[in-house]
Amino acid sequence: MKIFIDTAKLCEIKEAISWGIIDGVTTNPSLIWEAVEEEKEKGRDIDLTSYIEEICRTAGEERPVSLEVISQEADRMVKEAKFLYQKFNPIANNVVVKIPITTYTEEKGADYEGLIAINKLEKEGIPTNVTLVMTPEQALLAAKAGATYVSPFAGRIDDHIRKNLGIKFNKNDYFDSELIQEIFRCRLGEQLKMTTEEKISDLYHDSRIKHLRGNGNDHGITSGVECVRKIVHMFKKYNMPTKIIAASVRNARQVRELAETGCDICTAPISVIREMLRHPKTEEGVKRFYSDAVNAGYAELFKSL
Ligand code: G3P
Repeated sequence: MKIFIDTAKLCEIKEAISWGIIDGVTTNPSLIWEAVEEEKEKGRDIDLTSYIEEICRTAGEERPVSLEVISQEADRMVKEAKFLYQKFNPIANNVVVKIPITTYTEEKGADYEGLIAINKLEKEGIPTNVTLVMTPEQALLAAKAGATYVSPFAGRIDDHIRKNLGIKFNKNDYFDSELIQEIFRCRLGEQLKMTTEEKISDLYHDSRIKHLRGNGNDHGITSGVECVRKIVHMFKKYNMPTKIIAASVRNARQVRELAETGCDICTAPISVIREMLRHPKTEEGVKRFYSDAVNAGYAELFKSL
């Protein structure tokens, strides 16, 4: 699995690239805003165009950089995408344009604007990263429309499920969807015990049972990781060339579970990438090997270095 860094902060991009594990960069308007605010706080007067140029240059030819459009109307999105591509792609030939999958425009009462834009851009040879994907169904449509990448938002899917269940959580908390499912299975078992005499057809329509089945998932999706797993399965089954970028990633364990799904890429903030490396026993081991080496005189070996 490739790892992209999800940030617009140049210092983070440079640092993570220096670790030798970064294959691309994803940004969005919120991340750009965050990066600009940080620069302003440091007293720097930031020129956005040169800043984005610098991101593209730093990433270099081999690492795609996703830059997002802001409009909701297909023609505007295509115009903005062309603008971004023409302006920034010549720097390092690595620009991918982020298009939201669903956009609802009051005037048109339509929500397929994203699909139209993806399709037009595909025909013009502009690569797209279809963002804000929350279901496998959306991913399928994006792929059919010609998306180069789709970005299912694993963390936000978890947030949605947790919030509907009234579970309190902090942004980076691991979401144990298996525990949730176990709880619902137990509850369902209790309900079924009470109604063993009833017919299957009655149970099938029983509102209490329906309620339990419908809880803890979003249209049958029990977590962000599961959403990604289903997309991987579907794309493999039909040999779809669209690559999957698992996005909106919140913690190291989630990255591991995403890697297990077989998705192509995971884009994560630098804090999560750092968390992937940490383990208290590793730290303890490093310290101990060092002090033992010093005590045993082993460190003498390297004195001349
Ligand atoms: O790449 C999309 C990502 O930036 C969204 O992450 O944590 O705001 O849901 P988050």
